[in-house]
Amino acid sequence: MSKEEKIRHLIGEVEEFTATAKEQVEAFRLKYLSKKGILAGLFAEMKTVEPSLKKDFGRLVNELKQKAEEKLEVLSEKLLGDDDDTGSESDLTLPAEPYQVGSRHPISLVRRKIIDIFSRIGFSVADGPEIEDDWHNFSALNFPENHPARDMQDTFFVDGGQKTKEGLALRTHTSSVQVRVMESTKPPIRILAPGRVYRNEAISARAHCFFHQVEGLYVDEQVSFADLKQTLLFFAREMFAADTRIRLRPSYFPFTEPSAEMDISCNICGGKGCNVCKYTGWVEILGCGMVDPNVLENCKIDPVKYSGFAFGMGIERIAMLKYQVKDLRLFSENDTRFLKQFRSVI
Ligand code: PHE
Repeated sequence: MSKEEKIRHLIGEVEEFTATAKEQVEAFRLKYLSKKGILAGLFAEMKTVEPSLKKDFGRLVNELKQKAEEKLEVLSEKLLGDDDDTGSESDLTLPAEPYQVGSRHPISLVRRKIIDIFSRIGFSVADGPEIEDDWHNFSALNFPENHPARDMQDTFFVDGGQKTKEGLALRTHTSSVQVRVMESTKPPIRILAPGRVYRNEAISARAHCFFHQVEGLYVDEQVSFADLKQTLLFFAREMFAADTRIRLRPSYFPFTEPSAEMDISCNICGGKGCNVCKYTGWVEILGCGMVDPNVLENCKIDPVKYSGFAFGMGIERIAMLKYQVKDLRLFSENDTRFLKQFRSVI
């Protein structure tokens, strides 16, 4: 077979080629049109063809190339084509692509729910700055001079903040809002302070350098620990389930006395024991206590006449339990595959 005949034969082969699977189309492309394919080989051969025959040879090779490219296009469209496209241009009665509907962030959903629950028993929302001074974040809250939270290791100070009298830093908790409200309002006080807080921590599945808290504060005459307990029981049952139980374990915070940490009966296993509650049946959700008289005094509220309770919880923590999210980082990475799962939960 002469070279010419060989190419004509190939043209025939290309014309007859059909495929029923994507793999066959790819094999066709590799055979004819890839860098090491037949056509590349023929173009390379061009150099060795006698000058008088070059023109005809070139014409045939180009014909083969054109035929192979056309075939590839037709078969690709047929077998690899984007399903969404087929027919949509010709049939104008087809429904349009749906809009991508956004969704609320799980942290927003949980924050709203917490605010909603407490607003039903008379709490309103208060606000404070995220860059806070030493007085509101630490001193007024009875933090001793050498408390570890005042250390660079735990707190993000603004440039030079630690050395100045004001001691500006990113607030490490929303308890700073307690002080601001008590300084500016007379009891009765019943507020909720949601917001972002910052801590100098290595980022992992269980810790982050910023997260969200909701602070609660109730100051009036004769506020008791029993009021605190009932308020939190109400919250736990509204937030999780009507049969949720709570327990208060003694703890320590400089600004509350007595202080406690609150656990709820595990909302996954109902208290029977599972890997979320580490087989204890309980999960911790917040810190709380009676406002320390020193704190009331620091805010010019008479601790003989008034008493109060306070509590603080991490919104991420509540969201992780409620939606069984295993990694804290998901809340700040804005991966829509994660976020869109909350479209239907309110
Ligand atoms: N501020 C505390 C924390 O960040 C929580 C807390 C708030 C504890 C109010 C008691 C009362 O851990």
